Amino acid sequence: MGKMRAAITGIHGYVPDYVLTNAELETMVDTNDEWIVSRTGIKERRILKGEDKGTSVMGIAAVQGLIEKTGISAEDIDLLICATVTPDLVFPATANLIAAEVGAVNAFNYDIGAACSGFIYALTTGAQFIETGKYRKVVIVGADKMSSIIDYEDRSTCIIFGDGAGAVLLEPNEAGDGLIDSVHKSDGAGAQYLHLKAGGSRKPASHETIDAREHYVYQEGSAVFKFAVTNMADYAAKIMERNALKGEDVKWLVPHQANKRIIDATANRMAIGEEKVMMNIERYGNTTSGTIPLLLWDYESRLRKGDNLILAAFGGGFTWGAVYLKWAYDPKD
Ligand code: UT7
Repeated sequence: MGKMRAAITGIHGYVPDYVLTNAELETMVDTNDEWIVSRTGIKERRILKGEDKGTSVMGIAAVQGLIEKTGISAEDIDLLICATVTPDLVFPATANLIAAEVGAVNAFNYDIGAACSGFIYALTTGAQFIETGKYRKVVIVGADKMSSIIDYEDRSTCIIFGDGAGAVLLEPNEAGDGLIDSVHKSDGAGAQYLHLKAGGSRKPASHETIDAREHYVYQEGSAVFKFAVTNMADYAAKIMERNALKGEDVKWLVPHQANKRIIDATANRMAIGEEKVMMNIERYGNTTSGTIPLLLWDYESRLRKGDNLILAAFGGGFTWGAVYLKWAYDPKD
């Protein structure tokens, strides 16, 4: 019997219908399609519209689709983790709201907030429960309604972010596929460059915080860009070295979708050609915790059992890391 690994055995995603194009943003702030595409690679992003619709709406749709596709019973889910920085409520956890709605009545649920690295942090965390043998069905959701914390008067941030969610099922695998290795890092000194100023316990919501527009993402873009390029590439390279992988051994790089220039720099460092880099930033922008599962969902039909994948992310916190996994299944009709 081989080592017990946690393998992704199903994937599903959800993006809202409303498409916010660069052309529409041109009518809202002083920007233009040429600047946005050349500086970020983004052409459009999805926005969740409607009263009382939070992140859980997208997470529920992704998990319901996952349950249908994989044919599992919701009652068999042991653990559901939701990576998000835009929870429906401060508490209870969005994971708990999702689990209740999909009928995962036997699951233990919690959220992980690690911004753009949230999905890989949650994946690594959930995998531990499978590897120890404690659980057999773990669902990892990455979901963010970034439009709820974006200032559509700030051209430096509103062009980047979008809404979306993805979910994967993790199950035990003793045949050599699944999560092989992970490297993660956090550095709170980076908080100054990317954060939300108000709405937490330090500065609860008040008329003053609303007037000062402090409930929106604050980002020093070029500073974050430099840290992102260095750290995402370093950690992708590090996990390859640790596992004696060369560029040609990697079938797919699955990078967080923050900026096409950061993705290109990471791929160059790994000596991976762009035909092996998953990319959908042009259609969805940066969906924070949603980017990596949405990529896997979009590319699922092109993945084959045994493919070596490197997942890599960098985000607010700062948080970053990389995961090496072997894909566990061929496309199912
Ligand atoms: O996912 C979580 C982590 N976040 C990231 O990884 C984001 C990292 N940062 C970035 O992707 C980039 O820094 C941005 C896309 C946010 C900005 O691109 P940049 O090339 O770093 O631009 P910049 O902030 O240095 O601004 C350059 C110029 C400025 O004008 P001046 O001062 O040179 O006259 C900005 O005011 O571009 C201007 N600018 C814009 N112009 C047109 C900023 N935003 C826009 C805009 N349209 N939307």
